[in-house]
Amino acid sequence: MGKSNGLRVILFPLPLQGCINPMIQLAKILHSRGFSITVIHTRFNAPKASSHPLFTFFEIPDGLSETEATTHDVTLLLMLLNRNCESPFRDCLTKLLQSVDSETEQEKQRITCLIDDSGWVFTQPLAKSLNLPRLVLNTYKVSFFRNHFVLPKLRREMYLALQDSKQDDPAEEFPPLRNKDLLQILDVETEVLDSYSKMILETTKASSGIIFVSSCEELDQDSLSQAREDFKVPIFTIGPSHSYFPGSSSSLFTPDETCIPWLDKQEDKSVIYVSFGSISTISESELVEISWGLGNSDQPFLWVVRVDSVVHGKECVETFPKEFIEKLNERGKIVTWTPQQEVLKHRAIGGFLTHNGWNSTVESVSEGVPMICLPFQWDQLLNARFVSEVWMVGIHLEGRIERNEIERAITRLFLETEGEAIRERMELLKEKVGRSVKQNGDRCGGLGSDIG
Ligand code: UDX
Repeated sequence: MGKSNGLRVILFPLPLQGCINPMIQLAKILHSRGFSITVIHTRFNAPKASSHPLFTFFEIPDGLSETEATTHDVTLLLMLLNRNCESPFRDCLTKLLQSVDSETEQEKQRITCLIDDSGWVFTQPLAKSLNLPRLVLNTYKVSFFRNHFVLPKLRREMYLALQDSKQDDPAEEFPPLRNKDLLQILDVETEVLDSYSKMILETTKASSGIIFVSSCEELDQDSLSQAREDFKVPIFTIGPSHSYFPGSSSSLFTPDETCIPWLDKQEDKSVIYVSFGSISTISESELVEISWGLGNSDQPFLWVVRVDSVVHGKECVETFPKEFIEKLNERGKIVTWTPQQEVLKHRAIGGFLTHNGWNSTVESVSEGVPMICLPFQWDQLLNARFVSEVWMVGIHLEGRIERNEIERAITRLFLETEGEAIRERMELLKEKVGRSVKQNGDRCGGLGSDIG
């Protein structure tokens, strides 16, 4: 820890892997700059306190039933969490503020602010009533966060026209999406989600600032200045935050460390890494297609198949084609979770077949690993367009989860001149982002001084 500055920050992450990782990274950055850290978290998906002995953790009940806790409907989950956590969070925060009041002068630490995820919508009025500044942590790409507030309007006004439009044309209302991407996003956009978005917008605008943990000038040139105008609160970009303290110590799942010695045995830049993050699921038939796409290609592969990866699946082992499992021993490795940042850093990795969650996308760019894009939903569709069409550091599968398409994309990336050009562009992008982290590193986007 840097020399203590006598200030304490309260953090409250949304209990999803893609939100916990960046929040813990932020905690480490602030701690290294002298802040003491208190994390309030739900019982559901609780971060491992023992991995962070320098932080103080408080658990609050979240009221989720067993069925609710295993739902794949993220919107429903967020609604339930917002409804159930308001009162326990208020009690916990109020107690913390009172306990500071009763400390002796010597041990007194001022609680300087609350930092919580934009998806918590009850915290802004609460923080205001307690006179505590609230900063909003955001894990999306800036352009997605900024533009996604227009989705309810687009759904009302454009949905039918979009269905009749040329699907591959650019969606002018939400670049660089194509019409078919926008339609896919609007298809799942419901009224519940619309009113949730509205609350996120209002509470973000009322906050004391927004921290984009996984963004930086290089990756968000298109939208940072507009976001500053839209929100009219200070905006900090400190990303890619995982570069400050590499490692995945905030993993909710246990990583299978055997993949590292396995990678050690592979040739440089020969392995395709496959992972679809912590939430996305695939069907049994998609699992079979991916299996054969990987199996028929000439590249070794490391594939993350989470225990809950396959919807309504049997045990995953039963789902894999038998002949594929035989092939597997020769050329592939399947695990239920990896230390992903370490994997992407490994010299043997030559490509990443990804769902383009923003964390995975940024981690891949930071390590200069070109991507094959298979986005499933929401911001992933935008991230994938940036990767394949704006930065041109990846190949887009256009949603085709078919063995031949997957095999072909791997061949294009690893063996053809197109792949070489992609790798060169990725190397340049990696360098640019690396420089930005270095320059931004000491100032941490101005965050430390601003919070103080
Ligand atoms: C979610 C949303 O799905 C995504 O669209 C949004 O951009 C962020 O929140 P998730 O799907 O989990 O996130 O994907 P991603 O953002 O990529 O985050 C996954 C995190 O888990 C990454 O930090 C990755 O390093 C880590 N991970 C993933 C592992 O450590 N091991 C694994 O095996 C897989």
